[in-house]
Amino acid sequence: TGKRAFIAGVADDNGYGWAIAKALAAAGAEILVGTWVPALNIFETSLRRGKFDESRKLPDGSLMEIAKVYPLDAVYDTPEDVPEDVKANKRYAGASNWTVKEVVETVKNDFGSIDILVHSLANGPEVTKSLLETSRRGYLAAISASSYSYVSLLQHFLPIMNPGGASISLTYIASERIIPGYGGGMSSAKAALESDTRVLAYEAGRKGKIRVNTISAGPLGSRAAKAIGFIEKMIEYSYVNAPLQKELLADEVGNTAAFLVSPLASAITGSTIYVDNGLNTMGLAL
Ligand code: NAI
Repeated sequence: TGKRAFIAGVADDNGYGWAIAKALAAAGAEILVGTWVPALNIFETSLRRGKFDESRKLPDGSLMEIAKVYPLDAVYDTPEDVPEDVKANKRYAGASNWTVKEVVETVKNDFGSIDILVHSLANGPEVTKSLLETSRRGYLAAISASSYSYVSLLQHFLPIMNPGGASISLTYIASERIIPGYGGGMSSAKAALESDTRVLAYEAGRKGKIRVNTISAGPLGSRAAKAIGFIEKMIEYSYVNAPLQKELLADEVGNTAAFLVSPLASAITGSTIYVDNGLNTMGLAL
């Protein structure tokens, strides 16, 4: 309670970012979100028109309030990094101050500081290609959007994070086990994210008393997951083979996130925490 959270990667009410926002709001945090620039208009319009009101409901019956929505493209750190064609793109030209550095400056001007940073975004333009077919460009784009984006966000937010604060990201078991179909360098990007979680836990812990963890989540039929193409099969596989044979709810990941960024988890940092109905523990699926 009384904390302020910035959640990067919310553009509808289906994904993990939204569920995390709700769990943090239910625990009394003030919610700021970072929304991918091309998705900004439709998200804000839907929010304003009440399209999300049903899913904004918190356990006490009130509606989650989002204090401010920031346009964000986490593959660009500063305005100098933005290529001309992106600058000229209609959807980008309509928004401003959406590079990581500018977003953090704006948050600082608006609110002064934050306590919690959540990274719930990923993108791999060649995700449907096997790693053997992935181009250098596609591989580097996956790493840039899905791994370095976290390094950059924490690097820029750390100076305005209150000591004792915490940060989390979302990862997937394809980083450590073979998941055919999770291609385009996305498996590599998640491996980098998990390794970076440990190194950043050390650096941000020493520098700013900030904890850094990542949640390895089970399959959820989000917008991003549907773009990969086999999410329904993954959900079915998990349902059949996991120790807990039940649907995995985004709220279960949200609740774990709320725990991890709370004082209840004050000695947990550098960890990859599985929220997957236990699927990761299986050695043989029958
Ligand atoms: P989602 O579609 O709700 O979230 C992904 C978000 O990333 C979207 O809002 C999209 O607009 C945003 N985004 C993409 N590129 C961006 C950029 N350059 N700058 C800023 N935002 C950008 O989907 P989901 O699945 O909830 O994804 C959230 C996180 O959860 C991701 O890291 C994903 O890899 C992870 N995850 C998802 C699983 C699943 O089955 N859905 C399983 C395990 C991890």
